[in-house]
Amino acid sequence: MNYKTDEFIDLSPSPASLMESLRDIGYSMQTAVADILDNSITAKASEINMRFSWNSGEPWLGIIDNGHGMSREELVAAMRFGSLSPLADRAADDLGRFGLGMKTASFSQCRHLTVFSKKAGVATCCEWDLDIISSNDNSKWLLHVLSEEECSKKKHLLELSDTYLEQAKSGTIVLWEKIDRIDRLVSTSQQEASLNSLIADTRHHLELVFHRYLAPDTGKKLKIFLNGNQLEAFDPFNSKHMTTIELPHECFECDGQKISVQPFVLPHHNKIGKEQYQLYAGKEGYVQNQGFYVYRNKRLIIKGTWFRLIKKAELTKLVRVRVDIPNTLDHLWKIDVKKSNASPPESIRTELKRIISKIECSGKRVYEQRGQRLKSAIKTPAWERRAAGDQVFYEINRKHPLVKQLVDNVGSEQAIMFSNLLKMFEGSFPVDLFFSDFASAPEKLQRPGFDEEQLGRVLEDYIEFWGLDEESTKEQISELLQVDPFSLNQGATLKLLSQKGIVQ
Ligand SMILES: Nc1ncnc2c1ncn2[C@@H]1O[C@H](COP(=O)(O)OP(=O)(O)O)[C@@H](O)[C@H]1O
Ligand SMILES: [Mg+2]
Repeated sequence: MNYKTDEFIDLSPSPASLMESLRDIGYSMQTAVADILDNSITAKASEINMRFSWNSGEPWLGIIDNGHGMSREELVAAMRFGSLSPLADRAADDLGRFGLGMKTASFSQCRHLTVFSKKAGVATCCEWDLDIISSNDNSKWLLHVLSEEECSKKKHLLELSDTYLEQAKSGTIVLWEKIDRIDRLVSTSQQEASLNSLIADTRHHLELVFHRYLAPDTGKKLKIFLNGNQLEAFDPFNSKHMTTIELPHECFECDGQKISVQPFVLPHHNKIGKEQYQLYAGKEGYVQNQGFYVYRNKRLIIKGTWFRLIKKAELTKLVRVRVDIPNTLDHLWKIDVKKSNASPPESIRTELKRIISKIECSGKRVYEQRGQRLKSAIKTPAWERRAAGDQVFYEINRKHPLVKQLVDNVGSEQAIMFSNLLKMFEGSFPVDLFFSDFASAPEKLQRPGFDEEQLGRVLEDYIEFWGLDEESTKEQISELLQVDPFSLNQGATLKLLSQKGIVQ
Protein backbone atom coordinates (compact mmCIF):
# COMPACT_ATOMS: atom_id res chain seq x y z
CA MET A 1 0.00 0.00 0.00
CA ASN A 2 1.09 3.44 -0.78
CA TYR A 3 0.47 5.67 2.27
CA LYS A 4 0.64 9.37 1.75
CA THR A 5 1.71 11.31 4.80
CA ASP A 6 0.65 14.77 5.80
CA GLU A 7 -2.65 14.57 4.07
CA PHE A 8 -5.60 16.30 5.68
CA ILE A 9 -8.98 16.14 4.05
CA ASP A 10 -11.67 18.59 5.01
CA LEU A 11 -14.45 16.52 6.55
CA SER A 12 -16.64 19.21 8.02
CA PRO A 13 -19.95 17.62 8.86
CA SER A 14 -22.68 18.25 6.37
CA PRO A 15 -24.91 20.84 8.06
CA ALA A 16 -28.08 19.38 6.63
CA SER A 17 -27.54 15.80 7.81
CA LEU A 18 -25.98 16.75 11.15
CA MET A 19 -28.80 19.12 11.99
CA GLU A 20 -31.40 16.54 11.02
CA SER A 21 -29.75 13.94 13.28
CA LEU A 22 -29.33 16.32 16.18
CA ARG A 23 -33.09 16.75 16.15
CA ASP A 24 -33.52 13.26 17.48
CA ILE A 25 -31.28 13.14 20.50
CA GLY A 26 -34.32 12.66 22.69
CA TYR A 27 -35.65 16.01 23.77
CA SER A 28 -39.35 16.27 24.51
CA MET A 29 -41.29 19.52 24.27
CA GLN A 30 -40.97 19.75 28.07
CA THR A 31 -37.22 19.29 28.29
CA ALA A 32 -36.62 21.46 25.22
CA VAL A 33 -38.50 24.44 26.62
CA ALA A 34 -36.77 23.99 30.00
CA ASP A 35 -33.41 24.21 28.24
CA ILE A 36 -34.33 27.55 26.67
CA LEU A 37 -35.46 28.81 30.06
CA ASP A 38 -32.10 27.80 31.54
CA ASN A 39 -30.43 30.33 29.29
CA SER A 40 -32.84 33.07 30.37
CA ILE A 41 -32.17 32.30 34.03
CA THR A 42 -28.42 32.26 33.47
CA ALA A 43 -28.86 35.67 31.78
CA LYS A 44 -30.35 36.89 35.11
CA ALA A 45 -33.88 37.34 33.79
CA SER A 46 -36.48 38.13 36.44
CA GLU A 47 -39.41 37.64 34.08
CA ILE A 48 -39.94 35.18 31.27
CA ASN A 49 -42.95 35.23 28.99
CA MET A 50 -43.92 32.31 26.84
CA ARG A 51 -46.41 32.85 24.05
CA PHE A 52 -47.85 29.94 22.21
CA SER A 53 -50.26 30.05 19.32
CA TRP A 54 -51.84 27.30 17.26
CA ASN A 55 -52.10 29.89 14.48
CA SER A 56 -54.50 27.88 12.30
CA GLY A 57 -52.15 24.93 11.97
CA GLU A 58 -48.91 26.93 11.72
CA PRO A 59 -48.05 26.87 15.43
CA TRP A 60 -45.30 28.99 16.93
CA LEU A 61 -43.81 29.44 20.38
CA GLY A 62 -41.96 32.51 21.58
CA ILE A 63 -39.92 32.70 24.77
CA ILE A 64 -39.07 36.23 25.82
CA ASP A 65 -36.86 37.18 28.75
CA ASN A 66 -35.71 40.42 30.33
CA GLY A 67 -32.18 39.14 30.97
CA HIS A 68 -28.94 40.85 30.02
CA GLY A 69 -29.30 39.97 26.32
CA MET A 70 -26.55 39.58 23.74
CA SER A 71 -24.54 41.94 21.57
CA ARG A 72 -24.24 41.15 17.85
CA GLU A 73 -20.96 39.27 18.39
CA GLU A 74 -22.35 37.35 21.34
CA LEU A 75 -25.50 36.36 19.53
CA VAL A 76 -23.63 35.23 16.43
CA ALA A 77 -21.32 33.14 18.65
CA ALA A 78 -24.31 31.73 20.55
CA MET A 79 -25.93 30.53 17.30
CA ARG A 80 -22.93 28.28 16.63
CA PHE A 81 -23.35 24.62 17.50
CA GLY A 82 -20.96 24.05 20.39
CA SER A 83 -20.67 27.75 21.22
CA LEU A 84 -18.94 27.06 24.54
CA SER A 85 -16.96 23.92 25.24
CA PRO A 86 -18.10 21.71 28.11
CA LEU A 87 -14.48 21.90 29.28
CA ALA A 88 -14.61 25.67 29.70
CA ASP A 89 -15.04 27.13 33.17
CA ARG A 90 -18.53 28.41 33.75
CA ALA A 91 -19.93 30.87 36.26
CA ALA A 92 -21.30 29.11 39.36
CA ASP A 93 -24.87 30.06 38.44
CA ASP A 94 -24.59 29.05 34.76
CA LEU A 95 -27.24 26.47 33.90
CA GLY A 96 -25.65 25.75 30.51
CA ARG A 97 -23.41 22.81 29.82
CA PHE A 98 -22.38 21.96 26.25
CA GLY A 99 -22.97 25.11 24.23
CA LEU A 100 -25.64 23.20 22.33
CA GLY A 101 -28.89 23.61 24.27
CA MET A 102 -30.48 26.53 22.49
CA LYS A 103 -29.93 25.02 19.06
CA THR A 104 -30.57 21.33 19.69
CA ALA A 105 -33.54 21.96 22.00
CA SER A 106 -35.12 24.28 19.43
CA PHE A 107 -34.56 21.98 16.46
CA SER A 108 -35.92 19.02 18.34
CA GLN A 109 -39.30 20.76 18.09
CA CYS A 110 -39.23 23.11 15.11
CA ARG A 111 -37.51 23.77 11.80
CA HIS A 112 -37.14 27.52 12.04
CA LEU A 113 -35.32 29.22 14.91
CA THR A 114 -35.11 32.97 15.29
CA VAL A 115 -33.21 34.60 18.11
CA PHE A 116 -33.66 38.31 18.65
CA SER A 117 -31.58 39.91 21.36
CA LYS A 118 -31.14 43.39 22.71
CA LYS A 119 -28.19 44.61 24.73
CA ALA A 120 -27.56 48.24 25.74
CA GLY A 121 -30.54 49.16 23.60
CA VAL A 122 -29.06 47.62 20.42
CA ALA A 123 -30.98 44.77 18.81
CA THR A 124 -29.67 41.92 16.65
CA CYS A 125 -31.63 39.12 15.05
CA CYS A 126 -30.37 35.83 13.61
CA GLU A 127 -32.04 32.73 12.30
CA TRP A 128 -31.41 29.15 11.29
CA ASP A 129 -33.83 27.42 8.97
CA LEU A 130 -33.52 23.68 8.48
CA ASP A 131 -35.30 23.75 5.14
CA ILE A 132 -32.93 26.34 3.72
CA ILE A 133 -29.92 24.41 5.01
CA SER A 134 -31.23 21.17 3.53
CA SER A 135 -31.97 22.77 0.18
CA ASN A 136 -28.51 24.21 -0.43
CA ASP A 137 -25.83 21.63 -1.00
CA ASN A 138 -22.90 23.92 -0.43
CA SER A 139 -22.46 22.26 2.96
CA LYS A 140 -21.70 25.49 4.72
CA TRP A 141 -23.03 26.64 8.06
CA LEU A 142 -24.36 29.96 6.81
CA LEU A 143 -26.17 31.87 9.52
CA HIS A 144 -28.71 34.44 8.46
CA VAL A 145 -28.28 37.76 10.29
CA LEU A 146 -31.37 39.82 9.56
CA SER A 147 -31.39 43.46 8.61
CA GLU A 148 -33.76 45.80 10.43
CA GLU A 149 -36.07 45.78 7.43
CA GLU A 150 -36.16 41.99 7.24
CA CYS A 151 -36.82 41.87 10.95
CA SER A 152 -39.78 44.22 10.70
CA LYS A 153 -41.39 41.87 8.18
CA LYS A 154 -41.47 38.99 10.59
CA LYS A 155 -45.01 39.29 11.92
CA HIS A 156 -44.86 37.19 15.10
CA LEU A 157 -41.41 38.43 16.07
CA LEU A 158 -42.45 42.01 15.64
CA GLU A 159 -45.53 41.49 17.75
CA LEU A 160 -43.45 39.96 20.54
CA SER A 161 -40.69 42.56 20.47
CA ASP A 162 -43.25 45.38 20.43
CA THR A 163 -45.11 43.90 23.37
CA TYR A 164 -42.20 42.90 25.56
CA LEU A 165 -38.97 44.54 24.51
CA GLU A 166 -39.97 47.88 23.02
CA GLN A 167 -39.14 49.80 26.21
CA ALA A 168 -36.47 47.42 27.54
CA LYS A 169 -32.73 48.05 27.26
CA SER A 170 -31.99 44.34 27.16
CA GLY A 171 -33.69 41.01 26.68
CA THR A 172 -33.96 38.06 24.33
CA ILE A 173 -36.64 36.40 22.23
CA VAL A 174 -36.31 32.80 21.11
CA LEU A 175 -38.95 32.10 18.51
CA TRP A 176 -39.82 28.64 17.21
CA GLU A 177 -41.73 28.49 13.94
CA LYS A 178 -42.52 25.51 11.74
CA ILE A 179 -43.13 23.45 14.86
CA ASP A 180 -43.33 20.04 13.24
CA ARG A 181 -43.40 17.52 16.04
CA ILE A 182 -47.08 16.99 15.47
CA ASP A 183 -48.79 13.92 14.13
CA ARG A 184 -49.96 15.21 10.73
CA LEU A 185 -51.92 12.04 10.06
CA VAL A 186 -54.73 12.92 12.44
CA SER A 187 -57.37 15.59 11.91
CA THR A 188 -56.46 19.25 12.40
CA SER A 189 -58.63 19.55 15.47
CA GLN A 190 -56.91 16.53 17.01
CA GLN A 191 -53.54 18.04 16.18
CA GLU A 192 -54.55 21.25 17.87
CA ALA A 193 -55.84 19.41 20.94
CA SER A 194 -52.73 17.29 21.29
CA LEU A 195 -50.39 20.26 20.93
CA ASN A 196 -52.43 22.17 23.50
CA SER A 197 -52.17 19.30 25.93
CA LEU A 198 -48.43 19.07 25.27
CA ILE A 199 -48.11 22.73 26.17
CA ALA A 200 -50.15 22.14 29.34
CA ASP A 201 -47.79 19.27 30.27
CA THR A 202 -44.86 21.56 29.60
CA ARG A 203 -46.29 24.06 32.01
CA HIS A 204 -46.45 21.42 34.78
CA HIS A 205 -42.94 20.30 33.95
CA LEU A 206 -41.62 23.86 34.29
CA GLU A 207 -43.53 24.38 37.54
CA LEU A 208 -41.65 21.41 38.92
CA VAL A 209 -38.21 21.86 37.34
CA PHE A 210 -37.93 25.54 38.29
CA HIS A 211 -39.95 25.49 41.50
CA ARG A 212 -37.05 26.76 43.55
CA TYR A 213 -36.75 29.79 41.28
CA LEU A 214 -40.52 30.42 41.21
CA ALA A 215 -40.74 30.24 45.02
CA PRO A 216 -37.23 30.63 46.44
CA ASP A 217 -36.55 30.36 50.18
CA THR A 218 -34.84 33.73 50.02
CA GLY A 219 -34.36 36.38 47.35
CA LYS A 220 -36.44 37.51 44.43
CA LYS A 221 -38.99 35.29 42.77
CA LEU A 222 -38.66 34.50 39.11
CA LYS A 223 -41.89 35.16 37.24
CA ILE A 224 -42.80 32.93 34.33
CA PHE A 225 -45.95 33.41 32.29
CA LEU A 226 -47.55 31.20 29.68
CA ASN A 227 -49.89 33.18 27.46
CA GLY A 228 -50.29 35.63 30.30
CA ASN A 229 -50.96 33.06 33.04
CA GLN A 230 -48.38 32.96 35.77
CA LEU A 231 -46.79 29.62 36.59
CA GLU A 232 -46.93 28.40 40.18
CA ALA A 233 -44.15 26.53 41.91
CA PHE A 234 -44.75 22.84 42.48
CA ASP A 235 -42.65 21.63 45.38
CA PRO A 236 -42.48 17.81 45.07
CA PHE A 237 -41.69 17.51 48.80
CA ASN A 238 -44.76 19.44 49.92
CA SER A 239 -42.22 20.81 52.37
CA LYS A 240 -44.47 23.54 53.78
CA HIS A 241 -47.17 21.07 54.85
CA MET A 242 -47.47 20.59 58.60
CA THR A 243 -47.35 16.83 58.45
CA THR A 244 -44.46 16.48 55.99
CA ILE A 245 -41.59 14.97 57.93
CA GLU A 246 -38.23 16.59 57.40
CA LEU A 247 -35.55 14.05 58.29
CA PRO A 248 -32.07 15.15 59.36
CA HIS A 249 -30.14 17.05 56.75
CA GLU A 250 -26.79 15.58 55.63
CA CYS A 251 -23.80 17.10 53.88
CA PHE A 252 -20.71 15.56 52.34
CA GLU A 253 -17.92 16.53 50.01
CA CYS A 254 -16.91 15.25 46.61
CA ASP A 255 -13.85 16.60 44.83
CA GLY A 256 -13.79 19.44 47.36
CA GLN A 257 -17.38 20.41 46.47
CA LYS A 258 -20.32 20.35 48.83
CA ILE A 259 -23.28 18.05 48.23
CA SER A 260 -26.31 18.58 50.38
CA VAL A 261 -28.98 15.95 51.04
CA GLN A 262 -32.39 16.62 52.58
CA PRO A 263 -34.82 13.72 52.93
CA PHE A 264 -38.57 14.19 53.36
CA VAL A 265 -41.43 11.84 54.12
CA LEU A 266 -44.56 13.17 52.43
CA PRO A 267 -47.88 13.30 54.31
CA HIS A 268 -49.77 10.05 54.57
CA HIS A 269 -53.13 10.00 52.76
CA ASN A 270 -55.12 10.42 55.97
CA LYS A 271 -53.25 13.65 56.73
CA ILE A 272 -54.15 15.61 53.61
CA GLY A 273 -57.25 15.80 51.45
CA LYS A 274 -57.78 13.32 48.63
CA GLU A 275 -57.10 15.94 45.98
CA GLN A 276 -53.85 17.03 47.58
CA TYR A 277 -52.77 13.44 48.05
CA GLN A 278 -53.31 12.74 44.37
CA LEU A 279 -51.63 15.97 43.32
CA TYR A 280 -48.40 14.99 45.06
CA ALA A 281 -48.63 11.44 43.74
CA GLY A 282 -48.05 12.89 40.27
CA LYS A 283 -48.97 11.18 37.03
CA GLU A 284 -46.73 8.20 37.71
CA GLY A 285 -47.92 7.68 41.29
CA TYR A 286 -46.11 7.63 44.62
CA VAL A 287 -44.23 4.38 44.09
CA GLN A 288 -42.64 5.61 40.86
CA ASN A 289 -42.01 9.12 42.13
CA GLN A 290 -40.14 8.15 45.30
CA GLY A 291 -36.40 8.56 45.39
CA PHE A 292 -33.75 11.18 44.83
CA TYR A 293 -34.53 14.55 43.29
CA VAL A 294 -31.24 15.99 42.08
CA TYR A 295 -30.90 19.74 41.65
CA ARG A 296 -28.04 21.32 39.79
CA ASN A 297 -27.89 24.97 40.87
CA LYS A 298 -31.43 24.61 42.23
CA ARG A 299 -32.73 23.43 38.85
CA LEU A 300 -34.21 19.93 38.95
CA ILE A 301 -32.36 17.65 36.56
CA ILE A 302 -33.43 14.20 37.62
CA LYS A 303 -36.29 12.94 39.74
CA GLY A 304 -37.73 9.80 41.24
CA THR A 305 -34.81 7.39 41.14
CA TRP A 306 -32.79 5.54 43.76
CA PHE A 307 -29.96 5.11 41.20
CA ARG A 308 -30.52 1.38 41.57
CA LEU A 309 -29.16 1.49 45.12
CA ILE A 310 -32.43 0.12 46.46
CA LYS A 311 -35.72 -0.98 44.94
CA LYS A 312 -38.73 1.26 44.71
CA ALA A 313 -40.74 -0.33 47.47
CA GLU A 314 -44.31 0.25 48.63
CA LEU A 315 -43.12 1.03 52.11
CA THR A 316 -40.82 3.85 51.06
CA LYS A 317 -43.18 5.36 48.51
CA LEU A 318 -43.62 8.57 50.51
CA VAL A 319 -39.89 9.20 50.73
CA ARG A 320 -38.35 11.84 48.47
CA VAL A 321 -34.81 13.07 48.91
CA ARG A 322 -33.57 16.45 47.75
CA VAL A 323 -29.95 16.40 46.59
CA ASP A 324 -28.17 19.65 45.74
CA ILE A 325 -25.11 19.59 43.51
CA PRO A 326 -23.08 22.46 42.03
CA ASN A 327 -22.36 22.76 38.27
CA THR A 328 -18.66 22.16 38.95
CA LEU A 329 -19.30 18.44 39.30
CA ASP A 330 -20.93 17.98 35.88
CA HIS A 331 -18.10 15.83 34.58
CA LEU A 332 -18.49 13.39 37.48
CA TRP A 333 -22.28 13.19 37.31
CA LYS A 334 -22.30 12.68 33.54
CA ILE A 335 -24.96 15.31 32.92
CA ASP A 336 -26.41 14.73 29.45
CA VAL A 337 -27.12 17.34 26.79
CA LYS A 338 -30.82 17.46 27.62
CA LYS A 339 -30.03 17.93 31.31
CA SER A 340 -32.62 15.31 32.00
CA ASN A 341 -30.22 12.63 33.10
CA ALA A 342 -27.27 12.22 35.40
CA SER A 343 -25.68 9.42 37.32
CA PRO A 344 -23.61 9.75 40.45
CA PRO A 345 -19.97 8.66 40.61
CA GLU A 346 -19.01 5.74 42.86
CA SER A 347 -17.86 7.89 45.81
CA ILE A 348 -21.23 9.67 45.90
CA ARG A 349 -23.14 6.41 45.49
CA THR A 350 -21.51 5.13 48.66
CA GLU A 351 -22.58 8.21 50.62
CA LEU A 352 -26.10 8.07 49.20
CA LYS A 353 -26.40 4.40 50.09
CA ARG A 354 -25.46 5.18 53.68
CA ILE A 355 -28.09 7.92 53.85
CA ILE A 356 -30.78 5.73 52.27
CA SER A 357 -30.45 2.99 54.83
CA LYS A 358 -31.23 5.51 57.56
CA ILE A 359 -34.15 6.92 55.60
CA GLU A 360 -35.70 3.57 54.73
CA CYS A 361 -36.47 2.99 58.40
CA SER A 362 -38.22 6.37 58.71
CA GLY A 363 -40.46 5.72 55.72
CA LYS A 364 -41.56 2.45 57.23
CA ARG A 365 -42.22 4.06 60.59
CA VAL A 366 -44.98 6.20 59.10
CA TYR A 367 -46.95 3.04 58.42
CA GLU A 368 -46.02 1.37 61.68
CA GLN A 369 -47.12 4.40 63.70
CA ARG A 370 -50.47 4.18 62.01
CA GLY A 371 -50.75 0.58 63.09
CA GLN A 372 -50.07 1.45 66.69
CA ARG A 373 -52.61 4.22 66.75
CA LEU A 374 -55.32 2.03 65.31
CA LYS A 375 -54.66 -0.63 67.86
CA SER A 376 -54.86 1.68 70.84
CA ALA A 377 -58.14 3.29 69.78
CA ILE A 378 -60.09 0.03 69.88
CA LYS A 379 -60.02 -1.84 73.17
CA THR A 380 -61.66 -5.03 72.01
CA PRO A 381 -60.79 -5.44 68.36
CA ALA A 382 -62.01 -8.29 66.22
CA TRP A 383 -58.53 -8.59 64.72
CA GLU A 384 -55.34 -8.69 66.72
CA ARG A 385 -51.81 -8.00 65.62
CA ARG A 386 -49.30 -10.32 67.24
CA ALA A 387 -45.54 -9.91 66.82
CA ALA A 388 -43.33 -12.88 67.51
CA GLY A 389 -39.61 -12.43 66.95
CA ASP A 390 -39.30 -10.67 63.63
CA GLN A 391 -42.59 -12.07 62.38
CA VAL A 392 -46.02 -10.53 62.53
CA PHE A 393 -49.38 -12.32 62.58
CA TYR A 394 -52.91 -11.05 62.24
CA GLU A 395 -55.42 -13.18 64.11
CA ILE A 396 -59.05 -13.08 65.06
CA ASN A 397 -59.39 -12.17 68.71
CA ARG A 398 -60.60 -15.33 70.46
CA LYS A 399 -61.50 -13.23 73.49
CA HIS A 400 -63.88 -11.04 71.55
CA PRO A 401 -67.29 -11.31 73.25
CA LEU A 402 -69.06 -12.38 70.05
CA VAL A 403 -66.56 -15.17 69.44
CA LYS A 404 -66.60 -16.26 73.07
CA GLN A 405 -70.36 -16.26 73.21
CA LEU A 406 -70.60 -18.52 70.19
CA VAL A 407 -67.91 -20.94 71.39
CA ASP A 408 -69.48 -21.15 74.86
CA ASN A 409 -72.94 -21.83 73.49
CA VAL A 410 -72.19 -24.65 71.04
CA GLY A 411 -71.11 -28.22 71.65
CA SER A 412 -67.42 -29.10 71.72
CA GLU A 413 -67.49 -30.64 68.22
CA GLN A 414 -68.98 -27.47 66.71
CA ALA A 415 -66.54 -25.37 68.72
CA ILE A 416 -63.67 -27.24 67.06
CA MET A 417 -65.26 -26.75 63.65
CA PHE A 418 -65.66 -23.05 64.36
CA SER A 419 -62.06 -22.75 65.50
CA ASN A 420 -60.91 -24.45 62.28
CA LEU A 421 -63.04 -22.07 60.29
CA LEU A 422 -61.40 -19.08 61.97
CA LYS A 423 -57.97 -20.54 61.29
CA MET A 424 -58.87 -20.95 57.64
CA PHE A 425 -59.96 -17.29 57.36
CA GLU A 426 -56.80 -16.12 59.08
CA GLY A 427 -54.51 -18.32 57.05
CA SER A 428 -56.00 -17.51 53.67
CA PHE A 429 -56.18 -13.74 53.87
CA PRO A 430 -55.08 -12.47 50.41
CA VAL A 431 -52.18 -10.41 51.73
CA ASP A 432 -50.59 -9.67 48.34
CA LEU A 433 -53.78 -8.39 46.77
CA PHE A 434 -54.63 -6.36 49.81
CA PHE A 435 -51.17 -4.87 49.97
CA SER A 436 -51.11 -3.89 46.34
CA ASP A 437 -54.57 -2.27 46.59
CA PHE A 438 -53.60 -0.47 49.74
CA ALA A 439 -50.36 0.76 48.26
CA SER A 440 -51.78 1.99 44.97
CA ALA A 441 -55.06 3.58 46.09
CA PRO A 442 -55.62 3.35 49.86
CA GLU A 443 -58.58 5.70 49.67
CA LYS A 444 -60.49 3.26 47.46
CA LEU A 445 -60.15 0.38 49.87
CA GLN A 446 -63.38 -0.12 51.82
CA ARG A 447 -64.27 -2.53 54.61
CA PRO A 448 -67.47 -4.44 53.90
CA GLY A 449 -69.56 -3.12 56.78
CA PHE A 450 -72.77 -4.03 58.54
CA ASP A 451 -75.92 -2.37 57.38
CA GLU A 452 -78.12 -0.91 60.08
CA GLU A 453 -80.37 -3.96 60.32
CA GLN A 454 -77.47 -6.38 60.75
CA LEU A 455 -75.79 -4.09 63.22
CA GLY A 456 -79.08 -3.95 65.13
CA ARG A 457 -79.15 -7.75 65.41
CA VAL A 458 -75.57 -7.96 66.69
CA LEU A 459 -76.35 -5.19 69.12
CA GLU A 460 -79.36 -7.15 70.43
CA ASP A 461 -77.02 -9.98 71.41
CA TYR A 462 -74.76 -7.58 73.19
CA ILE A 463 -77.49 -5.87 75.07
CA GLU A 464 -78.63 -9.24 76.35
CA PHE A 465 -75.10 -10.49 77.03
CA TRP A 466 -74.06 -7.39 78.96
CA GLY A 467 -77.42 -6.74 80.49
CA LEU A 468 -77.63 -3.20 79.14
CA ASP A 469 -80.79 -1.17 79.81
CA GLU A 470 -82.03 2.34 80.62
CA GLU A 471 -80.02 2.21 83.84
CA SER A 472 -76.69 1.54 82.11
CA THR A 473 -73.90 3.98 82.95
CA LYS A 474 -72.01 6.18 80.53
CA GLU A 475 -68.88 4.06 81.15
CA GLN A 476 -70.71 0.90 80.07
CA ILE A 477 -71.82 2.60 76.87
CA SER A 478 -68.37 3.98 76.07
CA GLU A 479 -66.92 0.52 76.73
CA LEU A 480 -69.35 -0.90 74.21
CA LEU A 481 -68.31 1.70 71.66
CA GLN A 482 -64.74 0.44 71.83
CA VAL A 483 -65.68 -3.07 70.80
CA ASP A 484 -65.72 -4.15 67.16
CA PRO A 485 -67.97 -3.81 65.17
CA PHE A 486 -69.47 -0.91 67.17
CA SER A 487 -66.19 0.99 67.29
CA LEU A 488 -66.28 1.35 63.51
CA ASN A 489 -70.01 2.20 63.48
CA GLN A 490 -70.32 4.48 66.48
CA GLY A 491 -72.90 6.82 64.96
CA ALA A 492 -75.24 4.04 63.92
CA THR A 493 -74.78 2.22 67.25
CA LEU A 494 -75.69 5.29 69.29
CA LYS A 495 -78.74 5.83 67.12
CA LEU A 496 -79.93 2.26 67.73
CA LEU A 497 -79.24 2.54 71.46
CA SER A 498 -81.26 5.72 71.68
CA GLN A 499 -84.16 4.11 69.79
CA LYS A 500 -84.17 1.49 72.53
CA GLY A 501 -84.07 4.18 75.18
CA ILE A 502 -80.67 2.97 76.46
CA VAL A 503 -79.03 6.31 75.76
CA GLN A 504 -80.83 9.65 75.64
N1 LIG B 1 -31.74 34.16 26.66
C1 LIG B 1 -30.42 34.41 26.59
N2 LIG B 1 -29.90 35.55 27.10
C2 LIG B 1 -28.57 35.80 27.02
N3 LIG B 1 -27.67 34.94 26.47
C3 LIG B 1 -28.13 33.79 25.96
C4 LIG B 1 -29.52 33.46 25.99
N4 LIG B 1 -29.68 32.26 25.40
C5 LIG B 1 -28.44 31.86 25.03
N5 LIG B 1 -27.51 32.76 25.37
C6 LIG B 1 -26.05 32.65 25.11
O1 LIG B 1 -25.90 31.63 24.17
C7 LIG B 1 -24.97 30.67 24.60
C8 LIG B 1 -25.31 29.32 24.02
O2 LIG B 1 -26.47 28.78 24.61
P1 LIG B 1 -26.73 27.24 24.58
O3 LIG B 1 -26.71 26.79 23.16
O4 LIG B 1 -27.98 26.97 25.33
O5 LIG B 1 -25.50 26.61 25.31
P2 LIG B 1 -25.10 26.65 26.85
O6 LIG B 1 -26.27 27.15 27.60
O7 LIG B 1 -24.74 25.23 27.17
O8 LIG B 1 -23.92 27.58 26.93
C9 LIG B 1 -25.05 30.74 26.11
O9 LIG B 1 -23.86 30.30 26.72
C10 LIG B 1 -25.29 32.23 26.34
O10 LIG B 1 -24.07 32.91 26.34
MG1 LIG C 1 -28.21 26.57 27.45
